[in-house]
Amino acid sequence: MTNYQGVNIPASVAIIMDGNGRWAQKRNLPRTMGHKEGCKVVEQIIQDAGEIGIRYLTVYAFSTENWNRSPEEVGALMDLFRYYAGKLLKRAKENDVRIRMIGDRARFPEDIREAIGKLEAETADNKGLTFIMAANYGGRDEIRRAAMKYAADVCSGKAGAEITEADLAKYLDTEGIPDPDLVIRTSGEERISNFLLWQAAYAEFVFTDVLWPDFSKEELLNCIREFNGRNRRFGGVKNA
Ligand code: IPE
Ligand code: IPE
Ligand code: MG
Repeated sequence: MTNYQGVNIPASVAIIMDGNGRWAQKRNLPRTMGHKEGCKVVEQIIQDAGEIGIRYLTVYAFSTENWNRSPEEVGALMDLFRYYAGKLLKRAKENDVRIRMIGDRARFPEDIREAIGKLEAETADNKGLTFIMAANYGGRDEIRRAAMKYAADVCSGKAGAEITEADLAKYLDTEGIPDPDLVIRTSGEERISNFLLWQAAYAEFVFTDVLWPDFSKEELLNCIREFNGRNRRFGGVKNA
């Protein structure tokens, strides 16, 4: 844990970026404008997170359930990703950020899969913040895919029938990424919505009413201050 202006900064933070649609609605704008504004905040928060000393920042960008939205909204989200992938790469290179994607990328169109591959490959050796984007991600789907990979390894004799939790974690998309210490959800909703089900087993949750397009470095620090006041026990006994 590092210290930034008197705040203890956890190594691994995850954010459920929610409220883009409501932000737009409040302004009588199409929902897509909220997503566009939300993308700008992602760009900024990557920089802020690195600056304050977060080592791993995971953001929930698109869930396995978000395909249920209208084709127009899904299409607009895909176009936004196409547009922001280039910007993201530029930012990552400037700030020594390593990018990783979690989620099942197989369902994305080929050009998006290529853009994801490029983001990961061209930033793989960067040493600063690791920025993890969850796209077509669902915790249950991730565990399902892990189970299939493990079953294949058992069939081919690469793995035995009995495994530890640490062994199973290696089959998840988050292999090598520390579990989140803190999960933040914006927009006032207080649910997990299929995010990091395995990894968030002992995360602290902070909920803020701020809508994602209004999120800022100051709000991030507020959430971390709230986290600093928590007593993490991991099933043990409360510290005196
Ligand atoms: C989060 O904002 C972005 C995605 C899920 C892609 P929403 O689009 O869910 O915004 P609200 O919840 O409708 O306000
Ligand atoms: C969760 O937000 C998914 C992302 C932020 C990408 P949703 O807006 O999709 O979640 P629900 O439907 O309100 O639970
Ligand atoms: Mg939402």
